Order: sequence, then C-alpha cells, then structure tokens
Amino acid sequence: MINIALPKGRLGEKVYGMFEKAGYACPSIREDNRKLTFENPETGVRYFWVKPSDVAIYVERGAADIGVAGKDILLEYSPDVYELLDLNVGKCRMCVAGPKDFRDDPSQTLRVATKFAHIARRYYASQSRQIDIIKLNGSIELAPILGLSDVIVDIVETGKTLLENGLAPLETIVPISARLIANKANYKFKYNEICTMAQRMEQALTQEK
Ligand code: PRP
Repeated sequence: MINIALPKGRLGEKVYGMFEKAGYACPSIREDNRKLTFENPETGVRYFWVKPSDVAIYVERGAADIGVAGKDILLEYSPDVYELLDLNVGKCRMCVAGPKDFRDDPSQTLRVATKFAHIARRYYASQSRQIDIIKLNGSIELAPILGLSDVIVDIVETGKTLLENGLAPLETIVPISARLIANKANYKFKYNEICTMAQRMEQALTQEK
C-alpha cells in the first residue's frame, strides 16, 4: 500500500483526478460522506484528506509515504522531504502587495503582515531591507487597510481579493504550484512503487498538455 496525503478541498479533488488518470483509482473516495481515509487494495493505494498546510507534516514524519503540498508551504516550513514532481496545478504567486499608490520609504522600517514569515524574512534579507514582521493567520489583506502594516506578503491567485480591497500586487517573490512530495525513508523502502507512481503521474501530466 502507498499512503497518500491529499489536501482537503478543490485542489485536492483535482489532484485526486490526476492520480486516478495515472492508474491509482479509489472509487470510494467519491462517495458523499465524512470519511477521511479511503483505500483500494486493487490499485495498492490508501488516500487520506488532510488540511492543506498539514500535508508536509504527515509526509515528513512518515504517516504518509507521499503527499501533495503547495510550494508556499515547502518554502515556508522547509520540511525534510523529497520533492518529486511539479504537478502544475494550484498555480499562484507569492507577492508583496499593498495600497496601489504605495511608495517605500527606505529610511523607515517596513511593516510586513504575513502568514509566511520565513519567506518574507528571506526575501527582504536578500534586499538588505529592514522589516518588522507582523505574523497573522488569515485575512492578511486587512492589515494595510487598517494601518496595522505597510504591506503584506501573501498568495495572489486571481488578484480579486486585492482588487476588491483597494490593494494591488507590488512585487512577485516566487511562483507557486502544487508539488508531489515523498517521505525520505519510505521512498527508499517503497522505491519501485513510488517511482512508478511519480512516472505515471508525470506521463498523465504530459498527456494533458
Ligand atoms: C488566499 C490568499 C488571499 C487569496 C488570494 O487566501 O491569502 O487572501 O487566497 O486569492 P485571489 O488572488 O484569487 O483573490 P485563502 O483563501 O487561502 O485564505 P486566508 O484568508 O486564510 O489566507
């Protein structure tokens, strides 16, 4: 059995569709219930739904052999896992955003609100810009609106949330997409199964293009 942690939600459903196409179907996953684990002995897979930001924790600790996590989470928490494949879905970008007319005053410490403190710290350190991180857990866009911060570092997908709140993307830090990740020890134990799976996923991806 390969244990697979899928991110709960729309992205996870799309990603499950990719596994299905690659030959790892598990029909019971489509049943409308509140179960969290699903297995199919015929295809040798056991799936479980976890909170997207927790996938890397399950994989790093070996509770899941493989999983699907956003590059944002991998960059922020640097889990000790193998990154096997860019799945080319869940595409967005990590941005600095703020009021449309924002002008940075280098003589002042820049106040940055974010969920992604490490990414923000690394980005501004590379520019030798002095900042004050304000760590929030959600609705980051509120911070510059209420004067809690000057800018935010956050994920921008369509840009709609920023636009509807009078904000704009100011700089792109890094493009983001979903990645197939593997536990390092389990990758060795189940080398053939996991490699075959990654290859089939890659083939399914190329066929889609
Ligand atoms: C993310 C991000 C933005 C929004 C961007 O929030 O933090 O708020 O999506 O998407 P858009 O560019 O398409 O408008 P998420 O839904 O993950 O919730 P959060 O408020 O908990 O961060």
